[in-house]
Amino acid sequence: MQKVLIKHLLKEDTFLGKTLTVTGWIRSLREQKHLCFLQINDGSYFDSLQIVADDTLPGYHDLLPKLITGAAIEVEGVLVKSSGKQQPVEMRPTTIALIGASSEEYPLQKKRHSFEYLRTIAHLRPRTNTQGACLRIRSLLSYAVHTFFQEKEFVHIHTPILTALDCEGAGDLFQVQKNGKHFFGAPAYLNVSGQLEAEICALALSNVYTFGPTFRAENSHTSRHLSEFWMIEPEMAFCDLAQDMDIAEEFIKYVTNYVLDKGERDLAFFDTFIEKGLLEKLGRLTSKSFARMSYTEAIAALQKAKKAFVFSPDWGCDLQSEHERYLAEEFCEKPVFIHDYPKEIKAFYMKDGSDGKTVKAMDLLVPGIGELIGGSQREDRLDLLEEKMRNKGLNPAEYWWYIDLRKYGSCPHSGFGVGFERLIQMITGLENIRDVIPFPRYPGHAEF
Ligand code: 4AD
Ligand code: MG
Repeated sequence: MQKVLIKHLLKEDTFLGKTLTVTGWIRSLREQKHLCFLQINDGSYFDSLQIVADDTLPGYHDLLPKLITGAAIEVEGVLVKSSGKQQPVEMRPTTIALIGASSEEYPLQKKRHSFEYLRTIAHLRPRTNTQGACLRIRSLLSYAVHTFFQEKEFVHIHTPILTALDCEGAGDLFQVQKNGKHFFGAPAYLNVSGQLEAEICALALSNVYTFGPTFRAENSHTSRHLSEFWMIEPEMAFCDLAQDMDIAEEFIKYVTNYVLDKGERDLAFFDTFIEKGLLEKLGRLTSKSFARMSYTEAIAALQKAKKAFVFSPDWGCDLQSEHERYLAEEFCEKPVFIHDYPKEIKAFYMKDGSDGKTVKAMDLLVPGIGELIGGSQREDRLDLLEEKMRNKGLNPAEYWWYIDLRKYGSCPHSGFGVGFERLIQMITGLENIRDVIPFPRYPGHAEF
């Protein structure tokens, strides 16, 4: 017997009239006198398959009490056109086998639960509409990331999770020890970024990217921060900041279009139930060019804004999220790259500008999200790099191999990091970052 994913049964006509097997979990059951209607979902698609069983089915009366929400079943039957308006096809079973029973205590009985509650049952959460749709979009996006870079002939590299260095120099590191001892002979940490190792590979392979988990021990409790998140980090040799922004813009548009094309059904759900107007927003995002303005221009725009900010926007200050949102949502009304930031507020590895005050940094700010990408052209001059490290209180000797790269064939190079979960938030409209990763880690939470 041919076993088919429910997705194919609902989307393709070739299965009508055929006898097939499907497996999945019961989402709901409705009983009539000699009939019952089951909705079963196998996660391959947003919608469920309707099974219409009547009491001529062998063992019907014994089976019926066990066909409850959450139970796993295998159904063999014929796919027919549905007479109902809710679904194009339905299945008339010849047998239904109970594979795994459920119970009345199954927590997902109601149609709608709060996202806060669902986080407390992360082991069952993927069975909900929202989480299922989000996981499928996440998977598509991940595929799109690889497709984009592979088509551009970037080399996919795997950067380490265990590292000895603080890439961002910000001190937000989780330390790794065994029984209180330094397993690697020196302090080791979970990486905050794969950038430094990506630079090593870019200076050999020209264009590379890494895409992996990243860890930050910041005590942030916002809807935009996780302690463990995934980051996409391309690094390009012989590439300056303007080209870096070009690639970042092309990347965001490509992956968004990819999901608009392949994730239609799930996005339609997000458009209706999570963020009204989502599809229109994504369509606009991919068809218009992103804005670009320098940090100095951004500060001027903020100072002119007729808006009472909690933090006054003064040159030299880090942009607060209220500033970022104003720039993207009200001033530009689209994604905007802010570039050439004051050097005091950015990381040690960014290339000094010619004015002595700024560095060749860029952040992409997106309406509804804030910072989605952080990137820069890297300081490729040996003496300046060492000086910058000392000014930031870092010991150049610890970064000896990173500095060494500036001794042998140094060249202009640039890269950026995209927060994968923030990208998923942008695409799905989900407001809290804890709902776009199946097993979120944040202060006090790492149970599942
Ligand atoms: O701006 P960040 O810190 O940049 C870097 O790590 C660079 N080394 C990247 C590079 O140039 N290769 O982080 C990059 C992006 C941010 O723009 C944000 O989208 C995301 O990573 N991000 C977080 N996402 C979720 N939770 C957190 N705690 C995050 N911190 C950063
Ligand atoms: Mg940043």
